Amino acid sequence: PGGPSGSRDLVARRVVVSAGGTREPIDPVRFIGNRSSGLQGVALARAAAERGAHVTLVAANIALEVLAGASSAGQGQGAGTVDVVRVESTADLRDAVRGAAAEADVVVMAAAVADFRPARTPDAKIKKVPGRPPAPIELVLNPDILAELAHERLRPGQVVVGFAAETGDETGDVLDLGRAKARRKGADLLVLNAVGGGRGFGTVTNEVTLLDGTGEVLGQVAGTKPEVADAVWDAVVKLLVPRA
Ligand code: CTP
Ligand code: CA
Repeated sequence: PGGPSGSRDLVARRVVVSAGGTREPIDPVRFIGNRSSGLQGVALARAAAERGAHVTLVAANIALEVLAGASSAGQGQGAGTVDVVRVESTADLRDAVRGAAAEADVVVMAAAVADFRPARTPDAKIKKVPGRPPAPIELVLNPDILAELAHERLRPGQVVVGFAAETGDETGDVLDLGRAKARRKGADLLVLNAVGGGRGFGTVTNEVTLLDGTGEVLGQVAGTKPEVADAVWDAVVKLLVPRA
């Protein structure tokens, strides 16, 4: 087992991967959510464990059959592990990621994090009043977990990785948007995914561009989500500070 070349270059490394999509409660029975399947994050967790890492997978609303793909088959000396922490809201995901990140060599934010949440969540279900339009739902901005991690560096030498799905026409503004986002976030690596036209969400193959924190292009990968995951770990390994 291991990466495509059987690499064991993450043995005993601690990594955190967030995956899936957060849900923000509107009331006890409703939420604002997104369509992220969690497949890319699950592939990242599995690939890291196959390379020997101890992975904390912070899973936001991922279907159980998708989550089952996170466990690696590896066993014995130097085998990796995947611990799953299931969360729903952005606040819960933030707590879980930051808790695990305090001990981690790498944090990968592959989750689709809700940008906004309802300002208030009533304890009782919102009732409709016949003939009257519904009250508007006031939204507030969520914290940017990736930017916080990149700027705070909860552990010295920690490698911080973000994902970005951008839409645009084919004239390259996806790359422009990605480069600006890379600089804004301050992460070591931003995995840029062009979505729309059947790419990205829910599809089997991805085409991604790896950017560094200054927006420079480090490389491009086309392939399945497991192949993209291995390319991300290849890039991360180059950034890891060797152990004493
Ligand atoms: N992210 C995060 N916290 C948020 C929003 C996003 O940690 N509140 C992370 C995502 O997990 C991803 C990266 O930031 O790794 C980029 O997410 P994206 O939605 O593309 O960027 P935003 O900064 O939210 O910008 P926008 O949605 O407006 O394009
Ligand atoms: Ca966003």
